[in-house]
Amino acid sequence: MIDFVYLSQPQRVVFGAGSLQHLEREIVALGAQRALILSTPEQRASAERVADMLGARAAGIFDRAVMHVPIETAREARQVASQLGADCAVAIGGGSTTGLGKAIALDSGLPIVAIPTTYAGSEMTTIYGITEAGLKKTGRDTRVLPRTVIYDPELTLSLPVGLSITSGINAMAHAAECLYAVDGNPIMDLLSEEGITALARALPVLHQQPTDIEARSDALYGAWLCGQALANAGMAIHHKLCHTLGGSFNLPHAETHTIVLPHALAYNQGSAPAAYQRMARALKATERGCSVAQAVYDLAKDHGVPVALRDLGLTEAQLNQALDMALQNQYPNPRPLQREPLKELLYNAWQGVRPA
Ligand SMILES: NC(=O)c1ccc[n+]([C@@H]2O[C@H](COP(=O)([O-])OP(=O)(O)OC[C@H]3O[C@@H](n4cnc5c(N)ncnc54)[C@H](O)[C@@H]3O)[C@@H](O)[C@H]2O)c1
Repeated sequence: MIDFVYLSQPQRVVFGAGSLQHLEREIVALGAQRALILSTPEQRASAERVADMLGARAAGIFDRAVMHVPIETAREARQVASQLGADCAVAIGGGSTTGLGKAIALDSGLPIVAIPTTYAGSEMTTIYGITEAGLKKTGRDTRVLPRTVIYDPELTLSLPVGLSITSGINAMAHAAECLYAVDGNPIMDLLSEEGITALARALPVLHQQPTDIEARSDALYGAWLCGQALANAGMAIHHKLCHTLGGSFNLPHAETHTIVLPHALAYNQGSAPAAYQRMARALKATERGCSVAQAVYDLAKDHGVPVALRDLGLTEAQLNQALDMALQNQYPNPRPLQREPLKELLYNAWQGVRPA
């Protein structure tokens, strides 16, 4: 017997190779005239390309998006948007750039068009994060949800292979935790399984041939579905650990997710059978003769991305601090959170051993 609550958010998604060409049409559909274009310094060229495409509809470029949205950057971007008379913002980039767009929208209500170029999935969620005095505050607010999302796989061709793998596994983590979330629902179960399936199919191909547009399209499709999963169900131990490690020790987002996920999955194995059945199907774990946790670990290891937290520079002392933090303000999790098994989880992730 099923019993759930499902909230559908109004959002327009335009998907397809070359779909960036529809940007002006989408801005017009929002009733907007002047767009502030956001990017990281590294993706300035993409922002300039967008500005050229928009001509008079481009109000300007703000290219200082960085990880974790420092409040100072958010304030500066809001000021620039207001000075330039922007009535919408276009965020082209990964989760950091989308996050800056969300910080602007939170304050001003400016509509955001997100053009994701990684698999992080932020564009699908009402979750925002802003860092003030070294502390990242997160919250949920419908104002920050991008009104329109343009998924153009051509824009992901330049995503380095390593980041493609780790960002893809970051996306899988959203779906995995959605599958065993206390507030999951059958719609999201379908999307989550399909999202993991698409990514598990695409990532090995991208490792061999990073410019394979079919595989890029498959991966971005999977990332979209996994982002939806993140938006529509609560997070559990995996996200709690990654938020702690990323927020307090400044570890890189996608790599941290990649390293922790196999161990979080091993921790919860046995506590959510239906979720693990779906994941096993998506990852072809039974055919491979391995567990779900091992399948994710092998996906990372076989494709040359880090599998040990110590390789990201985390010390053993910091690991113990992370354990204490992870036990505070716990997220609901299918298996109760206990110090000793959690310590083992973190230690295994630190050493980079294959889950048993
Ligand atoms: N609020 C949410 O729902 C949510 C969800 C997921 C992630 N996030 C946040 O997003 C951030 C991480 O995002 P991310 O993993 O996408 O990394 P990122 O946005 O920080 O990008 C990493 C680097 O890759 C570059 N890059 C991105 N796409 C590229 C491309 N196609 N080609 C070449 N270079 C490219 C970026 O410019 C940047 O230098 C974190 O701060 C995380 O907390 C938020």
